[in-house]
Amino acid sequence: MRFDIITIFPEMFAGVFSGGVVKRALDRDVVRIAVHDLRDFTTDKHRQVDDRPFGGLEGMVLKPEPIFRAVEAVREAGGKVYLLSPQGRTLDAGLARELSAESQVVLICGRYEGVDERVVEHLADGEISIGDYVLSGGELAAAVVVDAAARFVPGVVGKEGSVRNDSFCGGILDYPQYTRPREFRGLKVPSVLFSGDHKRIERWRRKKALEKTARQRPDLAGPGALSPEDRDLLAETKNERKDE
Ligand code: ADE
Repeated sequence: MRFDIITIFPEMFAGVFSGGVVKRALDRDVVRIAVHDLRDFTTDKHRQVDDRPFGGLEGMVLKPEPIFRAVEAVREAGGKVYLLSPQGRTLDAGLARELSAESQVVLICGRYEGVDERVVEHLADGEISIGDYVLSGGELAAAVVVDAAARFVPGVVGKEGSVRNDSFCGGILDYPQYTRPREFRGLKVPSVLFSGDHKRIERWRRKKALEKTARQRPDLAGPGALSPEDRDLLAETKNERKDE
């Protein structure tokens, strides 16, 4: 799996991939990331990547020629090309997983007031947003996309199970985790976790995850979204709270 990032600020990526899970994946060559300076694909003396918008007054728009040239230089057969922009499909676990199945993902980082629409219409396979807010550019968004997608590439995250159990992968939020000490400032770790009864622990975790999802992300825990077993478990938590 290979990511190619096209940006006018390549230096912004020096830090983000130099630690953690992505760094380990790069070291083991499970994932490759190449960062390309858009200015290297200009042909004029000033290495100009932007220009004033037609029909507009202020701001600058990224020009199409360097972006087309950059993509044509780095795209491999079968590679997918996405522009990072607030107009795109919102990144979620489903999209991250889809991207992880590609052999190559080319990410174009937008900047300034926008990107010439011909890039969107005739070059990119799609646009990706990381949420309903505007960043100063696509660079931070590209780093988020790479991290989220890389986690789904087999061999990147140590135990496959730890991706599968992540929040959202099962469609609901994660269950609460505890570590030593058993008691901290009078705050006790739930005793079920010391029971050694794995069935009971699993059931408790599922219940807690459902409870948290219903409370914090009711959109993920509607009746249509849950299995009959999960609906029963969630109903149990509601009854327990009534009894308290
Ligand atoms: N560029 C600017 N804002 C963005 C966002 N929310 N997602 C992706 N790229 C962006």
